[in-house]
Amino acid sequence: MGHLHDIRDRFPGIPGDWARFDGPAGTQVVDSAIEAAADWQRSGDNANTHGAFTASTACDALVERTSASMGRLLGADPAGMVFGSSTTANMMALTRAIARDLGPGDEVVCTTLDHDSNVAPWLLMARDMGAKVRMAQFDASTGRLPVEAVVDLVGPATRWVAVTGSSNAVGTIPDTAAITAAAHAAGARVVVDGVHLTPHQPVDIGALGCDVFTTSSYKWYGPHAGIMWVEPGLLDSLSPYKVRPAPDTGPGRLQYGTPSWEGLAGIDAAACFLLDVGLEEIAAHEAKRFACLLDGLHKIDGVRVVGPQDIADRAPTLMFEVEGKSPASVAEMLADVQVSVWDGHNYAVEAMVPLGLDAEDGAVRAGISVYTTDQDVERLLVAVADVVDRPVSV
Ligand SMILES: Cc1ncc(COP(=O)(O)O)c(C=O)c1O
Repeated sequence: MGHLHDIRDRFPGIPGDWARFDGPAGTQVVDSAIEAAADWQRSGDNANTHGAFTASTACDALVERTSASMGRLLGADPAGMVFGSSTTANMMALTRAIARDLGPGDEVVCTTLDHDSNVAPWLLMARDMGAKVRMAQFDASTGRLPVEAVVDLVGPATRWVAVTGSSNAVGTIPDTAAITAAAHAAGARVVVDGVHLTPHQPVDIGALGCDVFTTSSYKWYGPHAGIMWVEPGLLDSLSPYKVRPAPDTGPGRLQYGTPSWEGLAGIDAAACFLLDVGLEEIAAHEAKRFACLLDGLHKIDGVRVVGPQDIADRAPTLMFEVEGKSPASVAEMLADVQVSVWDGHNYAVEAMVPLGLDAEDGAVRAGISVYTTDQDVERLLVAVADVVDRPVSV
């Protein structure tokens, strides 16, 4: 694991005065991804696919190469890799295609632990088609989503189950393999939102068995883009809204226009970075810092850690509150000493109230990334202790 101690050298945006805990909303970019995107744009290959000339052939090769690295990263058939601008955009495209085969009497199961990009598209689809969304409730005392909470809502009317791979609010990791198996047994399809999971744990879609898996490369040291894996047979059976010349089979059915090739070059490099370093190693490395962070926060009087109080089965992301101070004011005070955290609901809109938080104000969120050091954690803890001691302004 030695090579992870100098991993920061791979992140040109990181040396500087800030301790960065804002990774769950977007990480800094690894050097190889920055260079791959720039190299692509300098190369003269910036054309479009399926043409007769060499630059076009290079575009075809780029798609193939990036799909293959994503396939390796996620343990999935590269033929199902759909490249879009974001996971939210991909989910809107997917649900719009699914909607055409759904109607009254059909049900979708979503969860209160999910980011809204895996809830709102289903709600909109259900509203338009007269279908019903049933919300599985996570356990508010633990921040965890029991398998039964989802499976109990699955029945003969269930067509789709939409569940997070890891909460972007409190990091917990539901047993999506068990949920998928139960949903499939009932004849339903499953979408796993893997956006918060992918940077922190090994993913194996083959073992997971889900039908759709979403991820966003800007959460794992790459460019702003969303990659959605759709099981190739399902992909070809959907009825997407698409322009007439777009292909009738494969990922091009769900890609709205030409993807960002420079983005694909960066995605490929970022995926290779994760594969080279190894997600088992990343998980172990991050867990050490996460344990220090959690332990340190527990020791500060006046701080309440929200949701789970241990590091088992979760991504290294947590939320906390400081007594008597709004999450926004805590984030501002931390920013004053160059520690970056997020406050608010972070789009996990259904999760805040059950966690005992204000629906809008939420809590302070801090996430460990691969480049987070022990010194960063120490800085955050010292800064939070200082915030606690400050008088409440009126
Ligand atoms: C768990 C989770 N799902 C989905 C998204 C949405 O990703 P995108 O910004 O690519 O639409 C996010 C972004 O924060 C997220 O954390």
